[in-house]
Amino acid sequence: MNILILGSGGREHSLAWAIKQNPKCDRLIVAPGNAGIAAIAECADINILDGDAVATFAEENAVDFVIIGPEAPLAAGVADRLRAAGLLVFGPSAAAAQLEASKSFTKALCAAANAPTAGYAHFTDAEAARAYIRAQGAPIVVKADGLAAGKGVIVAMTLDEALAAIDDMFDGSFGDAGAEVVIEEFMEGEEASFFLLCDGKTVLPIGTAQDHKRAFDGDTGPNTGGMGAYSPAPVMTDAITQKAITEIVQPTMDEMARRGTPFQGVLFTGLMIKNGQPRLVEYNVRFGDPECQVLMMRLGGQILDLLQACAEQRLDEVQVNWADDHALTIVMAANGYPGAYTNGSVINGLHQQPENSFHMVFHAGTAEKDGQIIATGGRVLGMTARGATLEEAHEKAYAMAQTVDWPGGFYRSDIGWRAL
Ligand code: AMP
Ligand code: GLY
Repeated sequence: MNILILGSGGREHSLAWAIKQNPKCDRLIVAPGNAGIAAIAECADINILDGDAVATFAEENAVDFVIIGPEAPLAAGVADRLRAAGLLVFGPSAAAAQLEASKSFTKALCAAANAPTAGYAHFTDAEAARAYIRAQGAPIVVKADGLAAGKGVIVAMTLDEALAAIDDMFDGSFGDAGAEVVIEEFMEGEEASFFLLCDGKTVLPIGTAQDHKRAFDGDTGPNTGGMGAYSPAPVMTDAITQKAITEIVQPTMDEMARRGTPFQGVLFTGLMIKNGQPRLVEYNVRFGDPECQVLMMRLGGQILDLLQACAEQRLDEVQVNWADDHALTIVMAANGYPGAYTNGSVINGLHQQPENSFHMVFHAGTAEKDGQIIATGGRVLGMTARGATLEEAHEKAYAMAQTVDWPGGFYRSDIGWRAL
């Protein structure tokens, strides 16, 4: 099978690494890829937001299966374009990607599906939004409606913060994403991420994870795309997992199918759990980054069979083979991230890293220059390890991070603290 993966982050490196272990994989191409991906797959420089360009490339290269990593091409309809060309695709249509691309769409869908989530109101007018916030009081959560690269959510602990967030969003700080806002009830509890493959009818759980969104130790500092993650999430007991499926995920999938826009791909379900009850925080229509890295570390080569069954709408025929293991990833980020940072610093000490089914350095933002690996992004590397216990995975991943020689970067020293 010739496989094309779209994307260039740690998520796509881990997908490529796991897929390559499956004997069904003949040729593996990642577009555009990065320096780590280039060591295990061909990289192709195509514009992955351009459905025509991707379709042409796939046809010219006899690609049998396209796997779409990030949300932007999904929201842009690249999956639709590829399916129209007769290609086998993993990833939802633009219509189904609304579950991530529009918060008001998802809130209305949850209401129709009777899925537990925070109470909310939707505004296109700043004055009405302010009046609502004053009436509700703090804490309260203000969200830009559209895709805002993970930065469009303000959890306001005071009325002033919430009102300032409204000013920012209507002033254009979030671009078009802020022209509409969703204001939500503040939910307390513990968060977890639940990943399921969905083919329009069947849902298949493929793992849980918890991540660390804040930049610094002790969950302090600014929000990031994620500074580390571990799988499984201990808070996701069997009872809570079952509730999340029957009360939230399955009703959402049924409602999407009923509307004529079935969801096909991976549903990243963000949950808030309190007193044994899960409630939906948000959906994403793709794997999380860095959550994907720990899921792939645990699933290995079988992921190709699962993604293919999903794309062929045969999820009712497959099952996941679980090892009772744990994985943890530590993100190494460029100094300054998530604020301004510089590209180009040299990373040493990667050659001596162990790379096998228990240890892997997933590259997120790297390139090769004059025979050296340099940083080319905010989040740069994911030191990922697997073990029989979370403690063991934690120890192995930190042993890896400590031997990287990169003065231009930093990492948190407490990934997994809540579970350890
Ligand atoms: P989102 O992009 O919707 O996942 O929001 C980012 C983060 O904001 C979530 O992971 C939560 O930590 C927090 N958050 C979002 N919505 C709420 C809410 N209604 N109550 C409490 N925290 C929230
Ligand atoms: N790590 C969070 C995300 O991928 O959205």
